[in-house]
Amino acid sequence: MIFSIVTIQTAAPTSALTATAADQSIEIRPFDAPLGAEVIGLDLTRPLSPADFARIHRAHLDHHVLVFRDQRITPDEQVAFSRRFGPLQIHVLHQFGLTGYPEVLIVSNIVENGQPIGLGDAGHFWHSDLSYKDKPSLGSMLHAQELPAIGGDTLFANQHLAWDSLPAHLKRAVEGRVAEHTYLAKYAELQKRSPWRPNLSAEQIAQVRAVTHPIVRTHPETGRRALFVSEHFTTRVIGMPEDESRALLAELFAHGTQPGFVYRHRWQARDMVFWDNRSVMHLAAGTPDDQRRKLYRTTIEGDVPF
Ligand code: SIN
Repeated sequence: MIFSIVTIQTAAPTSALTATAADQSIEIRPFDAPLGAEVIGLDLTRPLSPADFARIHRAHLDHHVLVFRDQRITPDEQVAFSRRFGPLQIHVLHQFGLTGYPEVLIVSNIVENGQPIGLGDAGHFWHSDLSYKDKPSLGSMLHAQELPAIGGDTLFANQHLAWDSLPAHLKRAVEGRVAEHTYLAKYAELQKRSPWRPNLSAEQIAQVRAVTHPIVRTHPETGRRALFVSEHFTTRVIGMPEDESRALLAELFAHGTQPGFVYRHRWQARDMVFWDNRSVMHLAAGTPDDQRRKLYRTTIEGDVPF
């Protein structure tokens, strides 16, 4: 199979696609961490030239998490930039979509007039976004709107390193196997402890029927292999007795999220973070109840994992 850096189609009829866009002076500075890099010198409110887009695309594949500091972008600009990478997905909890922007999920612990304004416990367990869909997310973008004085970090774990370093007996145990992913796996548990999990309608439940994916997937653009199971959404290994499946998944979850594979993002005002869900899992470390946190998330549809 040939893996190539494809020219990404665009669906955004905005200034971001203007043919005359000038190159910006970009530097990609890798973090001293097992993944991640800061993109310096790029202003996402300005039209992105084809050359700059290609550099960002390449850096995303190489580093898996990109951080763009101090981006004063509007939701329109976030949506347009996200669409450069593919069609956008609408979260099943559409009640937490930003008004007028169904593709923008509000991630927030803020409660106004007794009503949560967004999904406050998104990322409570390690996961890859929308792995419970036939076509999980290629990547996600999170743009900081309001940040707590303490807490609120996001952790990212490199699943290529997780696969590469998996002990041989575990590689043998998972090679060629598929596992079930379901949005509902932890829903009742989360619902018991937080105000952010409304009862789902029949239509919402129909949107999140369980799917299966390979336990080790191949990145469609780089050809690298990655572990693709998570404590949030993966429920069982297909064709394996329940107790064995539970024990195997617990080993994989622990292996994949060990500190040596993790970059911890400490948010700064107006950060935009763009990660590759085919390469990483992520976790919201948590925010104290008396602190306000609000971010806007877009998710880009990816391929059927193989
Ligand atoms: C998410 O899981 O997408 C949210 C992560 C976060 O709030 O830090």
